[in-house]
Amino acid sequence: MIDQLRLIGVPGTNKVMAGELSRLSQRAFADLRLPEPKKEGLGALAYPFDPRLAGLAVRYHRTSTRVLWGLYRSAAQRLEPLYQELADAVAVEQRPWLQEGTRFSIAPFNLEPFAAGARQVVGAAKNALIEGAARRGVGLVLDPDDPQLRFDLRLHGDAVVLSLDLAGRPLNQRGYRSETGVAPLRENLAAVLVMLARHDARRQVLLDPMAGSGTIAIEAACMARGRPVWVEPRRPAAEEIEPVAGYCQQPTGALFADTRPLVLANELDPQLGPVARRNMANAGVERYIRFSQGDFRALVPDRVRAIAAEAGFDPGQGLILSNPPYGERLSPGLSVGFYRDLGAWCAGFPGWRAAFLVANPEFEAAFGSRPRIKKPLNNGPLRGYFYLYDL
Ligand SMILES: C[S@@+](CC[C@H](N)C(=O)[O-])C[C@H]1O[C@@H](n2cnc3c(N)ncnc32)[C@H](O)[C@@H]1O
Repeated sequence: MIDQLRLIGVPGTNKVMAGELSRLSQRAFADLRLPEPKKEGLGALAYPFDPRLAGLAVRYHRTSTRVLWGLYRSAAQRLEPLYQELADAVAVEQRPWLQEGTRFSIAPFNLEPFAAGARQVVGAAKNALIEGAARRGVGLVLDPDDPQLRFDLRLHGDAVVLSLDLAGRPLNQRGYRSETGVAPLRENLAAVLVMLARHDARRQVLLDPMAGSGTIAIEAACMARGRPVWVEPRRPAAEEIEPVAGYCQQPTGALFADTRPLVLANELDPQLGPVARRNMANAGVERYIRFSQGDFRALVPDRVRAIAAEAGFDPGQGLILSNPPYGERLSPGLSVGFYRDLGAWCAGFPGWRAAFLVANPEFEAAFGSRPRIKKPLNNGPLRGYFYLYDL
């Protein structure tokens, strides 16, 4: 048996996820000392379970894809001992998730390396939950179509971990994106970029010159405002299921709500303008974002600085943050000249920083200057890098 708050995210983002949780918990709880997390892989962290921290993470943690309550762990290599270990642990379960009549489902992740097939491992875990609960006199019902509790079963190293998915869905399904551009960035990855680029929303304007459907702009504004991940009426599962809801409570008071960010978003494709605006409105941050349509090369640095200064921001520092088109798949005919133009345009912002997520090996040479940070970071299946430049 284990009792952990587990954050699952994009490979390579453990530091970012830990940094965000630490920032959130400092804001939310003066009296909570956040322990060092255990790294459980490239994009997985485990903290000792604390219901307040879990309640905070499942509502506010923007850089993770899953927020889990890790309940059981088994190093068994075969199905029978796995089943036995899980059933024995459930039979002595005291934690409040175990309630009479609860409908549940189990989703497998990364189980391929296990000696048996994923379906069999899920079957063993399902039987163990039902059998272990029955030994305590509690009836659990498998209901993949309409579960109240969704379990997450995955292999970490050589141990199988069974967790309760506190959000009930991936955290990138925040509920603000109605339609998307050609290649929208996952919401949690956009939040990772904002954290990696260390956006200081109190002092710095953030400018996304190729904003697509506006994900980076929206995430930056939401982070600056301390907005919950979920947009009404969407809620994390943990909020709807008693008794977990009463256990993982909402922190009182708003987080970071004293910051008034200014984000500038620009996009070439006229069809994406309405999409981006709708997403911004859905997320409730349209008043913090100014959207313009056109080629980024037509954005005049002096004009951008003037906008920043008029809004009370330091025009001498700011952050350009974007994921530009990558190449053939997204923009037929895109040439390295495009990245060269981007480098030349960025040079018009001395004192600012610029950061990009790009999956095109030609980007770095074409952009021109040397990045201060170059970090492998994939965009879904696309192998890419995060680049940060001091301009
Ligand atoms: C990879 S997508 C960005 C996706 C965006 N982050 C999102 O979440 O929707 C790159 C975007 O750059 C835009 N774009 C391409 N050339 C441009 C240019 N010269 N000026 C401004 N935007 C441009 C494309 O239309 C596309 O929407």
